[in-house]
Amino acid sequence: MAIDLAVVPVAGQGTRLLPSTKSQPKEMLPVGRKPVVQYVVEELALSGIHRLMFVTGPGKVSIENHFDTNWELINFLRETGREELLEELDFERRSLEYFYTRQRRQLGLGHAVLCAKPLVGDQPFVVALGDSIIGVNAQSDIVARMVDRFEQEAADVVVAFEEVPAQEVVRYGIARPATPDQATEEVFELADLVEKPSVEEAPSRLAVAARYVFAPRIFEALEATEAGKGGEIQLTDAIRKVLADGGRGIGMRLQPQERRFDIGNFGSYFRAFIEFALNDPRYGEDLRAFVGELVDDAGGSAGGEED
Ligand code: UTP
Repeated sequence: MAIDLAVVPVAGQGTRLLPSTKSQPKEMLPVGRKPVVQYVVEELALSGIHRLMFVTGPGKVSIENHFDTNWELINFLRETGREELLEELDFERRSLEYFYTRQRRQLGLGHAVLCAKPLVGDQPFVVALGDSIIGVNAQSDIVARMVDRFEQEAADVVVAFEEVPAQEVVRYGIARPATPDQATEEVFELADLVEKPSVEEAPSRLAVAARYVFAPRIFEALEATEAGKGGEIQLTDAIRKVLADGGRGIGMRLQPQERRFDIGNFGSYFRAFIEFALNDPRYGEDLRAFVGELVDDAGGSAGGEED
């Protein structure tokens, strides 16, 4: 049976986006018209996921509210004759099931996934990071493709990767394909991951891209993974353990139209917002002209530091 369960970790503190994230989750920040996590859910639904298990934490209750049906608001829109706005709430009516558990201490992404173990039990599952959108307007079926491969190849781990410029490998977990020539393939045998390698040491330019499929043995690996820097349990370390213990790993490369929009820092958040807004069917065209003028006025200067 195809996997229909996704764990969506949304418990991180989002410190790189302070002060915006002081009292609201980064996963609820808007990108264009929708909050980030709504794109994630819509993308997963497109890939056949029906059960969504959020790992939340302090200050994240607005995520739960967002996916509830708000009858008060629906009635208000009806009573005030603004039925056309009900379309904006269509996502509430999707036949998806939502489950929530809490990560009581923010001990890293690996720990957040481990918090879902009692709910997931002994079945394979998807992990989709709640702060990353795949493709403009989340038009990607990467998860469905990953699930197919997982099942066809009887894999233990399938990881999505995005090719990044050579100088950026230092910021990501990077794939080591089984043979160097596989680094150009769409699907490859994943031998190992190297966390934030130097440009010289990087075995490829393929960076981990926020979507995974796991056999339940990942939980044992997470339980055996020691906390690293800042007391955090890293998901990458547990994946490496599964691979080192003989588990089958598959890497899948995102297609060019499936760029990853990571909302984790202001540089990438701003870029995502601008690109989605420029694609807005109603306001995109005006905005294009407006941004063009601004850029011309500023002499076209661009660039900046990323954290
Ligand atoms: P990040 O690695 O960006 O960490 O999380 P963060 O803590 O949210 O952000 P900074 O570094 O403080 O700015 C990637 C994804 O993993 C989740 C986050 O919510 C995000 O969706 N996460 C991270 C957890 O659920 N729990 C954690 O302990 C850490």
